[in-house]
Amino acid sequence: MYVNMPETSPLPRHIAIIMDGNGRWATQRGLTRLEGHHAGFKTVHSVVKYLGELKIDYATLYAFSAENWNRPKEEVSGIFRLLNQFIDKETADLHKNNVRIRWLGREEHLSAALLAKMNRAVSLTGGNTGLTLCLALNYGGQQEIVDAAKRLVADKIAPELIDERLFQSYLYTADMPGVDLLIRTANELRISNFLLWQSAYAEFYFTPVLWPDFNREDLDHALEAYSRRNRRFGGL
Ligand code: IPE
Ligand code: IPE
Ligand code: MG
Repeated sequence: MYVNMPETSPLPRHIAIIMDGNGRWATQRGLTRLEGHHAGFKTVHSVVKYLGELKIDYATLYAFSAENWNRPKEEVSGIFRLLNQFIDKETADLHKNNVRIRWLGREEHLSAALLAKMNRAVSLTGGNTGLTLCLALNYGGQQEIVDAAKRLVADKIAPELIDERLFQSYLYTADMPGVDLLIRTANELRISNFLLWQSAYAEFYFTPVLWPDFNREDLDHALEAYSRRNRRFGGL
């Protein structure tokens, strides 16, 4: 359990995670990349459980980017198979634990079966009041901003009415707070098109730990680092 944080420093309200390194984890062990993704989903299970225990309000997990379609067909279909299994296996448990499931991303390219499954999970858990768990799936930050702009135009919103607040209400994350803490595993120091708008004032935490190895202690370290940051939001 997380113990090292000074009493005065609040926990982040919204944690976003770029779950990276499944492939390298597998390669290091002489396993297939898909076995790495399988291990990665196990980590999702345990990290989500811990986030709930910590009473974090929002967690957004990058599960599949709009650019991940560039991977070999077999890897992509394997990831989607694992994702389907994850939703089948975990939804009831998440519901029992008062988790509200959402998904962020574009519908294009996703199968009707997966969309139906996700929509069922979202509506089943819609009334829950614990952790809001957002799965970013077929998600891109630039695509999200483009989608918002298209909807603003479709709604014939007058330019003088558009400000940051209104624009935000057209994003996938309309009613959610911005990202407080953004974690990326596997030693990559980039944002890879994740939550571009929402991370405007996020604190970044990078770790060399590969996602399948990421555990409670690693999350504690991230939270501890966060608690030591001095967030200024442009002020003093
Ligand atoms: C992250 O792990 C999972 C997805 C992008 C779906 P990677 O598959 O990117 O792992 P590395 O970066 O190749 O090690
Ligand atoms: C970002 O990881 C996407 C997910 C974790 C789902 P990538 O492994 O796809 O990112 P790049 O290609 O290294 O930037
Ligand atoms: Mg990667």
